Amino acid sequence: LLNSDKKWLGTPIEMLRRMPQCGQPLPHLRASDSHKVLIRTDLLKEGEVPVPYPSKFRDAWDDITVKMPCSEKNLFPVENEVFLRLNAVSVLILQDAILSYNTAHAKRWDFTALNVLCTDGLEHSEVQYLFDVILPEMVKLALSAPKICTQPIPLLKQNMNQSLTMSQEQIACLLANAFFCTFPRRNSRKSEYSNYPEINFYRLFEGSSPRKIEKLKTLLCYFRRVTTSKPTGLVTFTRQSLNSFSKWESSATQLTRLHITYEGTIEDQGYGMLQVDFANRMVGGGVTGLGLVQEEIRFLINPELIVSRLFTEALDHNECLIITGTEQYSKYSGYAESYKWKDNHKDETDEWQRRCTEIVALDALKYRHFMEQFHPDKITRELNKAYCGFVRHGVNSQYLSAIATGNWGCGAFGGDTRLKALLQIMAAAEAGRDVAYFTFGDAELMRDVHDLHTFLTDRHITVGKDALPFCLCCTATLSTVFLPSVTFIEDFLKSPL
Ligand code: AR6
Repeated sequence: LLNSDKKWLGTPIEMLRRMPQCGQPLPHLRASDSHKVLIRTDLLKEGEVPVPYPSKFRDAWDDITVKMPCSEKNLFPVENEVFLRLNAVSVLILQDAILSYNTAHAKRWDFTALNVLCTDGLEHSEVQYLFDVILPEMVKLALSAPKICTQPIPLLKQNMNQSLTMSQEQIACLLANAFFCTFPRRNSRKSEYSNYPEINFYRLFEGSSPRKIEKLKTLLCYFRRVTTSKPTGLVTFTRQSLNSFSKWESSATQLTRLHITYEGTIEDQGYGMLQVDFANRMVGGGVTGLGLVQEEIRFLINPELIVSRLFTEALDHNECLIITGTEQYSKYSGYAESYKWKDNHKDETDEWQRRCTEIVALDALKYRHFMEQFHPDKITRELNKAYCGFVRHGVNSQYLSAIATGNWGCGAFGGDTRLKALLQIMAAAEAGRDVAYFTFGDAELMRDVHDLHTFLTDRHITVGKDALPFCLCCTATLSTVFLPSVTFIEDFLKSPL
C-alpha cells in the first residue's frame, strides 16, 4: 500500500496499553490529608449508591471549601416554597424562581434560550415531560444537597496536590444546583472566586444561538438519566502541581511508540487511555457560555466534568487536573457551529465502581502571533505542561496507559500542529508512555508527524540532546514552520550545533 492510502501509521493501536488491563491493582480507597473522600468507603458495594460521609450536613463558610447554597450563612437562600411551585412550571416560573435568590441580576439575566428550546427545540411531548417530570426531579435533587453533600468540599487551589473523590449522585446534586444557579458568591467577577471558572448555568439560558439549544439538550439528557435512575459510581478529581522539572536539554530519554491516524476521536478510539482535554486554564472553558470546541463538547457529553468548575482554581503553568471515572451520557455529531446532540449514550467502561475513563485537563498557551510559540521559554512551558499531565510519580511506566491526544492548543489557541505534536511526543517519552495521536481528519499531518517520529526513532535520537534543539532549530528557521524535508533534518543533524 502506498502511504497515502493508509488511515493510520506507526504502531498498531492494539499494541498500546489501555486501562483497566494495563493497570496495577488499586489499593483500597481510603481518605487521607491529600485525598478527601465524600462517601463511606467501608460501605461501598458494587451497584449500590454510595453513602455520603458524614451522615449529617456539616456547614462551612470559609476560604478553603465551597460555599454551599444550603449553608446557614448564605444571604440569599433558596426558599423551598419558591421551588415547590415548580410542579406546575413554565419557563417564566422557572425564571422567577431562579431570580428570587439572584435578585441583583434580575435585570441582566436573560432566559431566551430556554424559551426557544421549549418553543422550537423540542417536541410538544418532550416539553411536557421536561416540565412534568425532569425539572421537578431536578428540583428535588438540588434541594437534597444537605442530605447528599454533607461534607465541606475542599477547594483545589493553586499549588495544591490534592485529590477529591465523590459519588456520581453527589455530583448530580451539585450540577442540579448549578443548573438552578444556586451557588452563592459565584455570579460576580469581583468575588473571592474571581480566579475560578463560572459554575452557575445562567449564561446557558441567554441569547438565541442554536448552540445553546444543543447544549441544553445535551445537559437535559444527563439530568433525565440521573433523575430516572441514580448512578452508583465514584469520580476522582486530582490537582497535580509539580514543583520542579528536569532540564529538557539534558534528557537522555528515547522516544516511545506512536500510533497516528486521521480517523476517529480521542474519546471514542482512545478508550482506556489517558485522554487529553484541550483545556482552558479555567477548566471547562466556555462550557456554560458559548464555547463549543473540544473541551466544551467533552464536558457536555461527560457532564460530571463540569462540577470541577465548582472547586478548581485556574491552572497555573506547572499544573493539571486529572479526572477519573466520569461517564459519557450523550452521543453528538458535528463540531462547533454544526454541533448537535444526537442520542443517549450507554457507557460501557467500568471498573472498581468508577468508570476507568481518565481525562487530563491541559491548558496550552494561546498565541496571537504565530511566531511566539517558537521562543524557547514557550517551548519549555508547553513541554512542562504536557509532562505534568502525563507523568505519574510512583507508578512504574509498564502500568501506565498510552496517551490519547491530538491537535492540542492548535484550534482556538492558534498553535502549530507539527510543533505541538513533537512537544507532546517528547513529554510522553519523558513520562514513559506511548502516544495515540488523532489528527482529526488531517492526513497530511498524519504523514508528516509519522515521518518525523520514524526519522528520530530510527536514529535513536534522545529528547534532550537532539530532539529539542532540532525542534527549536528547524521550526524557528523555517518561517512557514512546515516540517522540513528529511534531507534538511539530516543536514541539521550532521552539522555541529
Ligand atoms: N478528538 C481529537 N481531536 C479533536 C477533537 C476530538 N474529539 N475535537 C477537536 N479536535 P480546540 P485549543 C482537534 O480548538 O486550540 C476551548 O474553548 C481539532 O483539530 O478545542 O487547545 C478551551 O476551553 C481542533 O481544531 O483546542 C480553551 O479555551 C483541535 O483539536 C480553548 O478552546 C484543537 O481543538 C483551547 O483551544
